[in-house]
Amino acid sequence: MKNRSLVSIDDINREEILDLLKRARYFEEHPNLNVLQGKVVATLFFEPSTRTRLSFETAVNRLGGRIIGFSDANTSSSAKGETLKDTIKMVSNYVDLIVMRHYLEGAARYASEITDIPVINAGDGANQHPSQTMLDLYSIYKTQGTLENLTITMVGDLKYGRTVHSLLMAMRYFNPTFNFVSCDELKMPVEYKEICDKYGIRYTEHTDFTPEVINSTDILYMTRVQRERFTDIMEYEKVKNLYTLRNNMLLDARPNLRVLHPLPRITEIDQDVDDNPKAYYFEQARNGLFARQAIICRALGIDPENIN
Ligand code: CP
Repeated sequence: MKNRSLVSIDDINREEILDLLKRARYFEEHPNLNVLQGKVVATLFFEPSTRTRLSFETAVNRLGGRIIGFSDANTSSSAKGETLKDTIKMVSNYVDLIVMRHYLEGAARYASEITDIPVINAGDGANQHPSQTMLDLYSIYKTQGTLENLTITMVGDLKYGRTVHSLLMAMRYFNPTFNFVSCDELKMPVEYKEICDKYGIRYTEHTDFTPEVINSTDILYMTRVQRERFTDIMEYEKVKNLYTLRNNMLLDARPNLRVLHPLPRITEIDQDVDDNPKAYYFEQARNGLFARQAIICRALGIDPENIN
């Protein structure tokens, strides 16, 4: 079952991505199916979450499975010093699938290597957030009608923002053009620019969030500055409010442009954008339910269209 873990978006290829999107569409049309009867899923959240945990748990509930877990690691024995290894081994005795968020990069990979049950990475430090990427791709596909040849502008914390790292890697199959808008302190890390170079993906880096950039964009992907990753709070204070999207900045945007944000937002998107038809971030979060239903079924080897 190890190969059914989803630790990095790199674990699945183009065909598997497209298959998961097709499956997400199926779940959007059939959100309540009794395909997880008898299955128990653990959600282990060592970091705070609203959307990821609740949409995974809703996904399991709507598919007839059961949930155990914790949303605050301080209520688990890790607060007494239990190692991650021991926690994973223990929980593996009880469940069929583990969904885990952890503050350490590589924690989900480590977990997947010490258990025989599948592990879904619900975010590991600044590294990866592959289930978010699947809902991002589903949102892009639903709003653009394609994943191919799109101009995607990523704005904000491109250094610590794990969602942009996963999304960049997934989009490499679909000939994107990227604009990276950030201050020098929060630039896209070199390893991800090297991936762009390796796959012949065009990208440009900007420090200014200009009308030219916005008006050449299909998907405007705003991100929060990840305060929890800064060791010096003064450094966070310096960069936390550098980029804010306001409604009047979308006046000359392409008709098909949609604004995405993994959420939570702080100041990156002014509330005056919320009623603009180009604002798609709340629907994007809703798409997470269907994308995660698809991911759970893949992990458990369940084909919802072929259940006796
Ligand atoms: N997008 C996302 O990961 O949100 P949560 O932190 O609320 O899960």
